[in-house]
Amino acid sequence: MTNYERRTAITGGAGFIGSNLLLYLVPSYPQWLFVNVDCLTYAGNLSNLRSIENRDNYVFEKLDIRDRRAVQQCWERHEIDGVIHLAAESHVDRSIDGPLEFVQTNIVGTANLLEAALRQREQLGRFRFHHVSTDEVYGSLGDSGSFTESSQFRPNSPYAASKAAADHLVRAYHRTYGLDTVITNCSNNYGPYQFPEKLIPLMICNAREGRPLPVYGDGLNIRDWLYVGDHCRAVDLVFRDGAAGETYNIGGRNEVTNIDLVKLICRIMDEKLGGGLRAELIEFVTDRPGHDRRYAIDASRIERELGWAPTVSFEDGIRATVDWYFDNEPWLAECTSGAYREYYDKMYSNR
Ligand code: NAD
Ligand code: DAU
Repeated sequence: MTNYERRTAITGGAGFIGSNLLLYLVPSYPQWLFVNVDCLTYAGNLSNLRSIENRDNYVFEKLDIRDRRAVQQCWERHEIDGVIHLAAESHVDRSIDGPLEFVQTNIVGTANLLEAALRQREQLGRFRFHHVSTDEVYGSLGDSGSFTESSQFRPNSPYAASKAAADHLVRAYHRTYGLDTVITNCSNNYGPYQFPEKLIPLMICNAREGRPLPVYGDGLNIRDWLYVGDHCRAVDLVFRDGAAGETYNIGGRNEVTNIDLVKLICRIMDEKLGGGLRAELIEFVTDRPGHDRRYAIDASRIERELGWAPTVSFEDGIRATVDWYFDNEPWLAECTSGAYREYYDKMYSNR
């Protein structure tokens, strides 16, 4: 077996953030082995990883984290001594339609990984467990203030509740069994390879096709947007240097209302393509049940303790993202056919 310095599992490595993370980590750390553990749901796409798939320090294992024995065997086989855990059901609207899958993957799946981590620590004498979580565990903010690491958990959607439960389990395995854990709670990401059910890619795709741009409620809900590459650098820092048992909030200090964001995308696309005002496609539709009003992250701890700061400005990031979706039509066609099209039509036909 090759003598790698570290042997790290990345769960959910075929998804949006997972693939961006692997594309960053695999070439950056040739002395580490990366094992991508992903069962390839609708949101997983191996073609994202084409540029690294033949690297010696990268392996893909098609595997469901709900299957504890399969996870254990895989980790034993590769002598895994750490995990960056991203695999999850990630879309809030889907969690409202069908919460149970979120319970199984996000809670039971995380518990399975924690158990496997304890066994690996027994064998190898070390194991670091990094849970990639969300700011949605903290619930919704009023007009002022921001989430800190000590904000109370008040999850409002089944998705957020399932991630909060997973965070609690990770914390408990640190306190009870002394497992070396770190948790990151990040705000909304955007950038390449994001599945086009999420706001930004959905708006880019619909505006391009001349379809309606569905904005929930009054469009004044606020999200704190962060370019995915900045999130990946933060995860790398925390996995390497974060203090055991700690939590780090990650966010862009970049609060934007949904309606302003959609109008910005329309303006960029009008400039790029000409041919009329895409903002005229905006339709205000029925609000999401339990829709969180405002998120804002206080990222002081990771800035102060680990020297992290976002590097991509919002306008540059959005422009790069619009360009990416235009330059990657086959990827988009693959995502937006079949089951996705059925889901999309169901979601938006009766709004
Ligand atoms: P995504 O939906 O794009 O990708 C999820 C990946 O997990 C997919 O590749 C999918 O195949 C895999 N997966 C799902 N269920 C699985 C299972 N049972 N076994 C194995 N693999 C499975 O998600 P994303 O947006 O990349 O988010 C990744 C992680 O980051 C999630 O845990 C999410 O909660 C968290 N997060 C996301 C954001 C965001 O803005 N997207 C922000 C903060 C935190
Ligand atoms: O905050 C981090 C979270 O961000 C992650 O944990 C989740 O995995 C990720 O999906 C994201 O959740 P949101 O619900 O904030 O993202 P979404 O892109 O679904 O929606 C962003 C905002 O846009 C939200 O206020 C709902 C609104 N929206 C969304 C869609 C899909 C619309 O107005 N219209 C839409 O069609």
